[in-house]
Amino acid sequence: MIIAVDGPAAAGKGTLARALAAHYGFAYLDTGSLYRGVAHALLKDGLAPGDADAALKAAENLDPGLIDPVAIRTAEVGDAASIVAVMPPVRAAILAFQRHFAAFPPDGAKGAVLDGRDIGTIVCPDADIKLYVTASPEVRAKRRFLELQAAGSPLSEAEVLADVMARDKRDTERATSPLKPAEDAHLLDTSNLSIETAFGSAVDIIETHRG
Ligand code: CDP
Repeated sequence: MIIAVDGPAAAGKGTLARALAAHYGFAYLDTGSLYRGVAHALLKDGLAPGDADAALKAAENLDPGLIDPVAIRTAEVGDAASIVAVMPPVRAAILAFQRHFAAFPPDGAKGAVLDGRDIGTIVCPDADIKLYVTASPEVRAKRRFLELQAAGSPLSEAEVLADVMARDKRDTERATSPLKPAEDAHLLDTSNLSIETAFGSAVDIIETHRG
């Protein structure tokens, strides 16, 4: 069983996808971490995220097991990730890994939960359940601001909102695999939902679908 969770920056996809994976005993893949991993590799070497040749090389050489989970969570890496994610060769280079993870989840898990931008549309168009998780830009910026602040970031809430909106624009307007709900996705607006309520709604959708 494959559960696809897509949506814009800081909509609560990761928290929800992780909770669903734990609930069902499925494997979880944060596909944004792959794009962040590519971006981080470039920034570490002092290269511009817009350098297409370097970005492709970094994507081809990416070892998902070696991605630093803390270093990739900065606003700078998130922004750079959405720049490399516009490049079709970069997307193509990490597509097979994502599809293989979904088809053959690690540790013998009976299913997989993948979160990202194009899971329901491109990576796993045949996913059993597709959730499109969203929230207002202000709510998303507030959540991301608190997350970054806890990690020591000096960015103001207004700066984080501007960053989130710039990233949304880049993600929805790109030609290849733009952020958009799959036609058969279930929409879940978490603007006014606690984590627990959003999780409960997602489980209801999944159980209704499974009959
Ligand atoms: O956690 P957050 O929602 O801020 O972003 P993320 O899921 O870590 O993704 C970082 C960036 O990677 C996004 O802004 C997208 O540009 C890109 N991405 C993508 O293009 N396709 C995916 N399946 C996942 C992420």
